[in-house]
Parts: sequence; structure tokens; C-alpha cells
Amino acid sequence: MGGPADDPTVRRLDDEARQLALLIGSVTDYAIYMLDANGFIRSWNPGGERIKGYTDLEIVGQHFSRFYTPEDVVRGEPQRGLQCARTQGKFEAEGWRLRKDGTRFRASVVIDPIWQDGELIGYAKITRDVTERYEAQVRLQAAQKALAQSQKLEAIGKLTLGLAHDFNNLLTVIVNSLDLIGLTSAQDTRTLEWIEAAQRAADRGTLLTRQLLTFARGQHVVPEPHDINTLLGRSAEIYRRACGATIQVEFEFGDDAPMLDVDATQFEAAVLNLVANSRDAMPAGGTITVRTRRARCPVPEALDEGEHDYVVVEVVDQGSGMSAEVVERAAEPFFTTKEVGKGSGLGLSQVFGFAAQSGGFVQLHSEPGVGTKVAIHLPARLARNADGGDRGDV
Ligand SMILES: Nc1ncnc2c1ncn2[C@@H]1O[C@H](COP(=O)(O)OP(=O)(O)OP(=O)(O)O)[C@@H](O)[C@H]1O
Ligand SMILES: [Mg+2]
Repeated sequence: MGGPADDPTVRRLDDEARQLALLIGSVTDYAIYMLDANGFIRSWNPGGERIKGYTDLEIVGQHFSRFYTPEDVVRGEPQRGLQCARTQGKFEAEGWRLRKDGTRFRASVVIDPIWQDGELIGYAKITRDVTERYEAQVRLQAAQKALAQSQKLEAIGKLTLGLAHDFNNLLTVIVNSLDLIGLTSAQDTRTLEWIEAAQRAADRGTLLTRQLLTFARGQHVVPEPHDINTLLGRSAEIYRRACGATIQVEFEFGDDAPMLDVDATQFEAAVLNLVANSRDAMPAGGTITVRTRRARCPVPEALDEGEHDYVVVEVVDQGSGMSAEVVERAAEPFFTTKEVGKGSGLGLSQVFGFAAQSGGFVQLHSEPGVGTKVAIHLPARLARNADGGDRGDV
């Protein structure tokens, strides 16, 4: 007696089943569990407890579908996983699963069938929490998309800027010549009508170039201190006139909106562009609400860089709304869903360009058949300027 076979350590290591249990028991990053042939949990390791939040007592004997989201259960996902493992020898997938506390995590799942003497006795299921990797991937994709979009916009911007300047020079010649012709042939009413028509077209052209220049960041903005409600009130008639009789324009002025530094002409053009879009989205008539308020929030692209004070003007309609694809492209220059001659696709570009140039941003919410809300956020003046008086630093 007394040989190595009697050594308790060696005996323990010889015991294969015990070794395996020890191995599985020490894995904490993976939930490893055994299901019976019907999907009920027979045993699991501490990793399962760690990832899903249940204790042994709570989970052994339960059906494994309790880890799935209600939507996946309705779709029959748990059964599909088992069936796929049974018929194809393996099932692998990534999806959302539930912890005991109801929170969701991104799971990478593998299910293998366990056969004994040609009979299915259960399944081995391994689940890994890959939430962090998944979220990093989603963030990376969003950043890549934003970069591609901004490069595209920059290229279009450069092209537009060159064109708009040339176009503007040509228009100046046309407008001046029309004025001179108008002076010399003032007697002939037909000629006068033609001249007026040409002048209207040239005016529309001038407006368009102004929009182009704003979008291309070439427009010179002159920010001055303003009270947003006064600004809107001053242009209320212009907005109403642009809408015609079937559409009401209502103003809801927040009484706590701080002062802001803004180029009044650009601001008026931006709100007019939004009102015109809402009008076009409600061909059968309706109400457009122009609302002001103050807001304290972070910049959407830099959520972790702190909050700032904004003055917000919202233009809301109950019109046709936009599909997700249109929302995605709406602010692109020259993107329009309107027929030729009705829209040039520059309205929202001007709005977004103006907001960016003013140090703010725009949020667009739209739902087909429900309506659209566009919120221009413009930086509030610092508190010491709240009286609208001396800026002190200029
Ligand atoms: N309030 C809205 N309701 C529904 N769709 C909208 C609304 N605002 C914008 N859109 C959609 O976004 C597109 C782009 O709008 P944008 O103002 O840039 O150009 P446009 O109105 O087509 O032309 P422009 O303003 O230059 O005359 C529109 O063609 C329309 O499809
Ligand atoms: Mg428009």
C-alpha cells in the first residue's frame, strides 16, 4: 500500500467527470448549460449565473426560452435553434437575450445536440455576452457613415460655391439690364409685363443663389443680438402670405427664451423654408405651428461633451411626413421629391447650413402620415447678455 494510486490528489485528477465539472465550473465568461431534449435546463455553470443573473435553484428545471425576448419567443426562435441543432448538427447565432432583471444583452449563442446510442438526449448550449463588442461595432459604423456623408457634402459644397458666385455675377448683369430696359420702355404695357416676368424670375434666381451660398458656407453671416419672438413676430405676415388661405400659421412663443446672436435675414429665410415645406406637405390645408422655447442639451454628435444653452424654434405640421429614407437624405443639397419646377432641394440645406454656421444644429422628426417637426437649435447668448444690452467683449 501507500503507492501513487492511493494519493488523493492523483485520484482526484484521474476522475474524468470531476475534472470536467471543475473545468466547466471555472469558466465565468461563458454561460455553459445542458438542456434536455425538450429544452429544459438540467445544469449550468457559474458563468450562466454571472451573465444571466439567476441562481442555480431558480433556473434548473426551467425552459431555456425564458432567456429570449418576448418578440423572439413569439417568432418561435427558441424552438428554431433546437431544431436547427438537431437537424444540422449545430446552431450558431447572435441576438438579444434577457437577464433576470429584464435588461437586454447581446448574446453570441452556440447549440450542439448530444446523442447517445443514436438517441437525442439533450443539448449543450454556450452563450457569450458580446454587448460591448456589438456596441463598439455600431458606433464605428455610425462614425464611418457620418464621415462619408461629410466628405460628400464638402465636395458638393466646393462645387456649389464656385457655381453660385459665377451665377450671382450673371444675375447682377441681368437684373441691372432689366431695370434699365424698364426705364426706357415704360410706355408699352406688354413690354412692361415681360420685363416684370423676367424680373420675378431673376429675383427667384437671386434667392436660389443665396441659398446655394449659405449651404456652401460662402455666405457672409452678420450675427446680431435678437429676441427670437420679436424676430418671428416681425416676419409673421411673410410666413402667412407664403401659405395661402387654406393653411393657418400659429405661433406659440415660449416666454423664457433667452437672447441669441443671429443673422436676421438668414433666420427669416430658414423659417420660411420650413414653413414652405410644411405647406407643401399639407395640400389639403391644415395648421402649421411655429413654437419657441429654451433648451439645455448636448450637441447630438458630441453627447459626452456637456450641455449647452439653446434657443429652439420648432416648425410643426400634420402633413404627409417622410419615410425613413427621405429623412436620411432630406438635408442633402438638391435632394427633392417634388416635381421639376416645384422644388430645387435647397430649402433644408439652407436651414442646416445656417444652423451650423450659427454654432447650432437641427433636429428633424418625421413620420409618414403623421407629420413633421423640425427644431432649429441656436446657441443662447451668455447669461451676462440676457438683458440684450452691452456685450462687453466686442
Ligand atoms: N415638412 C415636410 N413634410 C414632408 N416632407 C418634407 C418636409 N420638409 C421636407 N420634406 C422632404 O424633404 C425634401 C427636401 O426638402 P427641401 O426643403 O430641402 O427641398 P424642396 O422643398 O424639395 O425644394 P426647395 O425647398 O428648394 O424649394 C422635400 O422634397 C420633401 O420630400
Ligand atoms: Mg423646401
